[in-house]
Amino acid sequence: MDSILVTGNGPLNGQIPIAGAKNACLTLMPATLLSEEPLTLTNAPRLSDIRTMTALLQSLGAEVTSLQGGKVLAMSSHDLNNHKADYEIVRKMRASILVLGPMLARDGHAVVSLPGGCAIGARPVDLHLKALEALGAELELKEGYVHAKAPGGLKGGTFEFPIVSVGATENALMAATLAKGTTVLKNAAREPEIVDLAQCLRRMGAQIDGEGTSTITIQGVDRLGGATHPVVTDRIELGTYMLAPAFCGGRVELLGGKRSLVEAFCQKLEQAGIAIEETEAGLAVSRAAGTRVQAVDVTTEPFPGFPTDLQAQMMALLCTAEGTSVLEEKIFENRFMHAPELIRMGANIDVHGGHATVHGVDRLKGAPVMATDLRASVSLILAGLAAEGETVVSRVYHLDRGYERVEEKLSACGAKIERVAST
Ligand code: EPZ
Repeated sequence: MDSILVTGNGPLNGQIPIAGAKNACLTLMPATLLSEEPLTLTNAPRLSDIRTMTALLQSLGAEVTSLQGGKVLAMSSHDLNNHKADYEIVRKMRASILVLGPMLARDGHAVVSLPGGCAIGARPVDLHLKALEALGAELELKEGYVHAKAPGGLKGGTFEFPIVSVGATENALMAATLAKGTTVLKNAAREPEIVDLAQCLRRMGAQIDGEGTSTITIQGVDRLGGATHPVVTDRIELGTYMLAPAFCGGRVELLGGKRSLVEAFCQKLEQAGIAIEETEAGLAVSRAAGTRVQAVDVTTEPFPGFPTDLQAQMMALLCTAEGTSVLEEKIFENRFMHAPELIRMGANIDVHGGHATVHGVDRLKGAPVMATDLRASVSLILAGLAAEGETVVSRVYHLDRGYERVEEKLSACGAKIERVAST
């Protein structure tokens, strides 16, 4: 398993290009199952999760061709010859559950392994299943697999999500495009990735209104066509790299960044004393020499609230803030595993249930630390950028799921960072 070596090296200056969104691409790719016509995605990120989804779609009989070094995915599911998503693939990536709705909508049957939990929580999929049942799906759980049928096809229906779920909204939205009649999804997720999916489905001929609000209405159509669609910018990668100059000082321009994707996050950063400027090419973030990050309180919420996927990174920043910050994680039940690793670097953090209280210290000290999940791994790298001495982050396979070429992007701005291949 590779490790990343990072050494505190002073202010950062330069530009970082932001890639297409992993979490948009992971729902756009299964959308190809809805149509016999080709679906091409541009601005796709080059990540291991995308390669896993590619393997899953290919195991179902879809053709997925990666072009231009992985930035373009040309897909076609003209001849689906297998409707079973196997546990071996699904257990590696929970987003695999997103093939259930499209397969069921298109061919009336699907067998998908339950994904199981992950480090940050139990991650049930009950809302995916309830939403599909509201569209007439008949579901049976057998030996860890969901056996889904829709004899005569799915029918439009109304479903109100008891809690906001990004994935369940995506599964239901895709399935509803081919259901007979009208579907209304209430308390739907409002994330930019949902909006991007709706725009892609509309390009394919779907009739959708209300994406980005809590109520999405879909008029089912008989079939969908092909399309070419650009994957939306990754707001989590954007927010992650916006923190690099916040940690180290200096000025970094995030190419392709849009403030509208990270508004709640920007407001917290500005409260903490970080300057954010909208430029022609994206967003420029800076912290003037001699200034110190100010403590702020953070509560994670569904979009447009503060994203849970930026909580670990923000906690790392607040470890050296002036004052005490309280972070409340309201989306997942176990998403503070980066705290013990930051404490190894000298942070002063008390975790109680869904709350973490961070007492700012002057500076962290480099140490060997371990990545536990995708966002925790990058928070440790950010902490190492500003720490005194050397930090070694192990198990960076977590990192490669969601961030392409981290060491290249950061060293281009002056960071002292390198990947050490495992012996
Ligand atoms: C998506 O996960 C993202 N993943 C996550 O990003 C992100 O943290 C999450 O949304 C919240 O924004 C992808 O898009 C591939 P949810 P998802 O359904 O869809 C509970 C990353 O780091 N829930 O919105 O799985 C669930 O346990 C990843 O890129 C149910 O109870 O999240 C959680 O507490 C991590 N039943 C809450 O809802 C269900 O059927 C929100 O989960 C589904 C979810």
